[in-house]
Amino acid sequence: MPQKVISIRPQSRMPGTKAPRYDGSQLADTRGRPMRDLRISVTDRCNFRCTYCMPREVFDADYKFLPHEAILSFEEIARLAGIFIGLGVKKIRLTGGEPLLRKGLPDLVAMLAPLGADLTLTTNGSTLVKHAQALKDAGLDRLTVSLDSLDEATFRAMNDADFPVEKVLDGIAAAADSGFSPVKINMVVKRGVNDQQIVEAARHWRDSGHILRFIEFMDVGSTNGWRMDDVIPSAEVVRRISEAFPLEPVEANYAGEVAGRWRYKDGAGEIGVISSVTQAFCADCNRMRLSTEGSLYTCLFAQQGHDLKSLLRGGADDDAIRDSIAAVWRLRDDRYSELRTAETAKKPKVEMSYIGG
Ligand code: GTP
Ligand code: 5AD
Ligand code: SF4
Ligand code: SF4
Repeated sequence: MPQKVISIRPQSRMPGTKAPRYDGSQLADTRGRPMRDLRISVTDRCNFRCTYCMPREVFDADYKFLPHEAILSFEEIARLAGIFIGLGVKKIRLTGGEPLLRKGLPDLVAMLAPLGADLTLTTNGSTLVKHAQALKDAGLDRLTVSLDSLDEATFRAMNDADFPVEKVLDGIAAAADSGFSPVKINMVVKRGVNDQQIVEAARHWRDSGHILRFIEFMDVGSTNGWRMDDVIPSAEVVRRISEAFPLEPVEANYAGEVAGRWRYKDGAGEIGVISSVTQAFCADCNRMRLSTEGSLYTCLFAQQGHDLKSLLRGGADDDAIRDSIAAVWRLRDDRYSELRTAETAKKPKVEMSYIGG
């Protein structure tokens, strides 16, 4: 039974006016990692209650989601995105919670698209039929849809919202019809819950033009009751699929790519495996995260954010905000997954629905 805890959201102040001037040189953290990827959570709400992310016992009717005035406006997000791009960010991913629950999201996409970064979004797919075309028209480049099982009972149990598989499949089809190709499909694998469907999922998405990615169940947040025993190592996923459909490894598309790539030897496309637990990829981690209420997090497993919103709403100009973000990145030392132990897994951490996936 997950613990009933209120999410921690401790903040530290941004360096603000004390930050040294950013001189335009390549920005690197204490481990020499550049900042390339910005993930923006646009809402902490979701219409699903995936057991590994927002367990219903915690995210219940009494749970205090952020009030409207606390969350960044589209104008604030777009202003920050421009500053981040000036610091070297090349990819922006919109996440949540469920980002399509944020009213008018295609308007935000239209504001971000002209900035020129690779613009992507991760969704549970529940409302994609309605939104796919508007997202494409607004300039979204790529789309990732979460779908943990094709088996009706398993999927409903995992999303804990009685949401049917069919509607997500319709959403993926609508995305493809709107010109998103390939769609990436995320499947979080939990032992004894959906691992029996690994090969079935591979069979379904082979030859579809889409890319299925298997994600190791992670100890994000403090409420999902994570245990190492529930993790199926990616190596086992690859082995099981390979027995049915032989696979061979493929070079990464770019340094720091989260997913390890494998392709079917018979030419039926590729899959990805995301092995945060068994093969940590912190050494190349170039991701900065901006929470719904405007806090910066330098790691998915961070215990503390940096309060960027106060700076933003306190009248700081773009240069001051830029210098301050640069100072946060330069001090970054995170490599949680490399250091993970049973003890660190139990520590209070910020929830993924708040910080973004
Ligand atoms: P592409 O740009 O398409 O390559 O996407 P991506 O690799 O950034 O993938 P996506 O954002 O869909 O991430 C997939 C999943 O990987 C997320 O939902 C998380 O579960 C996990 N993940 C992404 N980034 C990190 C990270 O920095 N650390 C850890 N531990 N897990 C991550
Ligand atoms: N472990 C692994 N991935 C997770 N996600 C959310 N919670 C977890 C977790 N505990 C990821 C899934 C989903 C995305 C929105 O967040 O990839 O597709
Ligand atoms: Fe919602 Fe995605 Fe978390 Fe599931 S994983 S509860 S769909 S934010
Ligand atoms: Fe990056 Fe933290 Fe994930 Fe490591 S654990 S890859 S540092 S976000």
